[in-house]
Amino acid sequence: MPKILLIGNGAREHALAEAITRSQQKPLLFSFMKSNNPGIASLSAKTMLGSYSDLQAITGFAVENKIEFAVIGPEDPLNNGVADALAKINIPAVGPTKSLARLETSKSFTRNLVSKYNIPGNPQFKVFTTINGVEAFLNELEGIVLKPDGLTGGKGVQVQGDHFETKEDALKLCEQVLGGGSSLIVEEKFDGEEFSLQCLCDGKTVVATPLVQDHKRRFDGDKGPNTGGMGSYSLPDHSMPFLKPKDLGDGLEITRQVAAALLKETGNPYKGVMYGGFIATKNGVKLLEYNARFGDPEAMNILPLLKTDFVEVCRHIIAGTLDKLKIEFEHKATVCKYVVPKGYGLPADHPDAASSKARIEVGNVGKARLYYSSVDKKEDGLYLSASRAIGIVGIAGDLAEARKIAEEGVKAVKGPVAYREDIGTEALIQKRIDHMKKIRKD
Ligand code: GLY
Repeated sequence: MPKILLIGNGAREHALAEAITRSQQKPLLFSFMKSNNPGIASLSAKTMLGSYSDLQAITGFAVENKIEFAVIGPEDPLNNGVADALAKINIPAVGPTKSLARLETSKSFTRNLVSKYNIPGNPQFKVFTTINGVEAFLNELEGIVLKPDGLTGGKGVQVQGDHFETKEDALKLCEQVLGGGSSLIVEEKFDGEEFSLQCLCDGKTVVATPLVQDHKRRFDGDKGPNTGGMGSYSLPDHSMPFLKPKDLGDGLEITRQVAAALLKETGNPYKGVMYGGFIATKNGVKLLEYNARFGDPEAMNILPLLKTDFVEVCRHIIAGTLDKLKIEFEHKATVCKYVVPKGYGLPADHPDAASSKARIEVGNVGKARLYYSSVDKKEDGLYLSASRAIGIVGIAGDLAEARKIAEEGVKAVKGPVAYREDIGTEALIQKRIDHMKKIRKD
């Protein structure tokens, strides 16, 4: 009976826990979590609560339970070197070492790597450590994106038109970031439609999983502040309706070249997930950023569709033999809707912000899948935290049915919560298609 350690406590990890425990090999799951996720706990033989920077606690828990391998869900433990610490005690991990996780944790590392190895997809960009030359470069760009280097929890990137308007505003923001000691990547803003291409990588072989589109904005119609992601969909053909057939191949080719470049650059194979945030533009597919893990919510779209035994997938990633395994996904549509506290993403002085810590009731979600995220299970019930609470996923032969299942599931969560009704609707998808038609002029 394989013993597998899962690190992480979100809905993405709940979906990972489900994928692990549905294996034919009947594994025993051991979970190390920052806070108690009731969904993961219910699937685990044993859980331990602790900090993702406590390498001793994590390795101790792994040794004590004779773990065969670990699956690392979020970016924080990757950035803290959890894979490295486990490797030192001969426990392999699905999740890159600290150095290789720079793919996500250092945006300048990835932009420079893509440039150095002449891989397509980069925007015009420059990395700055002082304000010298920033103004001149800002003047060269049509639209501007500012990215502080390092992990920013998805909140550090500032985009012209969303977070600031003029070049003067941009210069002030650059001064602030550089004054704080962080280096800064200034880059060209792309116009287009984004998609998530999550790939499995064993260091040599890169395998694509179905494409997903996430919805970052808090409110329907893509309005309001950016969030960690309010929901996502995928389609039975594993592509996106606004892409040209070549686009998926181009994104995958970029990821293949980046995997090869990582091996050349560091001498070590990248074992884990390379999640490319891509954007289809009038000039083809461009790279926004990489994450060194599955997406959240995107993991909830693709893991339930995986037909191949996930424990086998992990073993092949670790052994470097992904080329020997046929990895298959069901050809179904998925719609994931995050149920969030009403106050999620709103300023602290907003009247709805008070809803954050309230109690919720979860009724029958029908045919939908339910993945817990930031909820606090107390003796007297389930409580919201400040963050996304529950991912509800509908899976069906077509998008309309998948959305209906997700909508019915969402309605079973009672309390001061909110969600985006428009995710997975034909109208929203048509908007994406029309946007691409307009910018491609076809
Ligand atoms: N879907 C956004 C993220 O996982 O970073």
